[in-house]
Amino acid sequence: MAHSLFRKKNINKILTDAATNEEAAHGGASGLKRVLTLRDLTFFGIAAIIGAGSFSSLGEAVFKGGPGVVFLFIMCAVACGFTALCYAEFASRIPVAGSAYTYAYASFGELFAWIIGWALIMEYSIGNIYVAFSWSDYFTSFLHKINIHIPDYLTCSYMEAKEAFANNSSNEELVNAWTSAPLLGSLKIIFDLPALIINLLITTLVYVGVKESRNFSNVMVVLKLCAVVLVIAVGAYYVDPANWHPVNDAGVRSFSPNGFAGIMSAVSGVFFAYIGFDAVSVMAEESKNPQRDLPRSMILSLVICTVVYILLTLVLTGVLNYRQFEGVGDPLARIFEVTNVGWMQFLISIIAVIAMTSVLLVFQMGQPRIWMSMSRDGLLPPVFQKIHPKFQTPSFSTIITGLLVAIPIIFTDKTFVLDFTSIATLFAFVLVCGGVLLIPRKEGVPGRFNIPYINGKYLFPLIIIVAIALIEYYNRNYFIGFFNINEDNASFNISSIVFWLVMIAVAIAAFIKSFSLIPLLGLSSCMYLLTGMTGENWAWFASWLALGLIIYFLYGYKKSKLNEII
Ligand code: ALA
Repeated sequence: MAHSLFRKKNINKILTDAATNEEAAHGGASGLKRVLTLRDLTFFGIAAIIGAGSFSSLGEAVFKGGPGVVFLFIMCAVACGFTALCYAEFASRIPVAGSAYTYAYASFGELFAWIIGWALIMEYSIGNIYVAFSWSDYFTSFLHKINIHIPDYLTCSYMEAKEAFANNSSNEELVNAWTSAPLLGSLKIIFDLPALIINLLITTLVYVGVKESRNFSNVMVVLKLCAVVLVIAVGAYYVDPANWHPVNDAGVRSFSPNGFAGIMSAVSGVFFAYIGFDAVSVMAEESKNPQRDLPRSMILSLVICTVVYILLTLVLTGVLNYRQFEGVGDPLARIFEVTNVGWMQFLISIIAVIAMTSVLLVFQMGQPRIWMSMSRDGLLPPVFQKIHPKFQTPSFSTIITGLLVAIPIIFTDKTFVLDFTSIATLFAFVLVCGGVLLIPRKEGVPGRFNIPYINGKYLFPLIIIVAIALIEYYNRNYFIGFFNINEDNASFNISSIVFWLVMIAVAIAAFIKSFSLIPLLGLSSCMYLLTGMTGENWAWFASWLALGLIIYFLYGYKKSKLNEII
């Protein structure tokens, strides 16, 4: 059994299976249409990246880290950049739908592939719940500005309203939602209606076909980029550079008022803003030239978005003192509210709605395609790969995705889904970078993307040794402090100990196997970001993985197509 858990799918077999599906498509039976160009894919990337992270979770991130949160954006960009190169390497070697899942199947074997596929549900579907909630916040505030009012109990989640009432919150809308909600028996009817409606609309759009969705997405991305540039330009006019050095609790002026710990505590929200570049890789089977275009589009969209985020953060923290972002879910609108620029407030609500609609669309398209791959491998029932005869989209998987987003919208709240999504996605990224180390090195083929091979044999161990030496030199308590575990620091300290132990092990492996440096850096930077997650995040994530493993052993392990080969 141990052997069969790590059984791998051969890269050539993955490509042949995909080609067979494509042949079937030419015969008119099934398969996806190859319509996407480099521009479309880059737009898909941007559509997936810029959304609720910049329009919503950025507020809380800035409150935690102050202007210094810009460093975290750079750290996340670096981690995502290395990971994007690893995705690109995989995507150019295995240009079929399925994303990290397919890549893990070829490098780590079936069990890890299943685990990744399972973690990706968090990235795509659970992530979309957060975006749908944020979409609803901005949509409702847009409606307010044009004097249309939806009752409060139909614009927030049950959990949020209950908590706000119990804690005597100053958020009047949430408290009002709780006190004014009609009753069904003894149950208060409170749910986020706009979030449910947008989910229904997006699911329908994805169901009827990629071409329609692509055109829709392209238009939205152009609008979104123009608008974000406008926010930065108008906001820059109101920047007061003194805000970049605010006074902290100790009375000291600093760019990072809460120190490095404050910056790192914002990791969920900041990392969430970057999630999405990888969604491009699941479009491989709909791309005209996946080998060339997938890597380029991922890197391109990541670079564009990083520049946008850095500028946005500087503008926000320059216009207002970082403390003014406490609990602010619409930070971009807030800076224009405080500075009294009415037309920008109005515009921002519209832009946010557009931006988040395109994020919802891309993620809602990604999830069914991953399931389709898993079903082809026998790990999910065959119905998940069913392709609609007329629209040529994975119809059943699309509907299930819609339900998976809709049902938790009724029961969960924003903070919970944000943390959950970030931890699972980082986990998947770590495995993708690790996977690249395990696939056989290959000579570069002209016209195809290959990660430049820089031998990490000496460089990576050297980087780790220098990092340890520098930390020890500048902060003598850093390593010793990890062993002083208490209730407040337990998860950070334990994950830091694990991080450094893994790094030492990886450095030894890199020395023995002469691993390539870029995936090594991707692996270490993503693992480092994981140390910012709380113990509660880890507990939820572990439960989710345990549930996935139970399903795998009850179904996938027995039905796997690899059983037919081995
Ligand atoms: N990066 C995406 C967003 O911010 C998930 O909405």
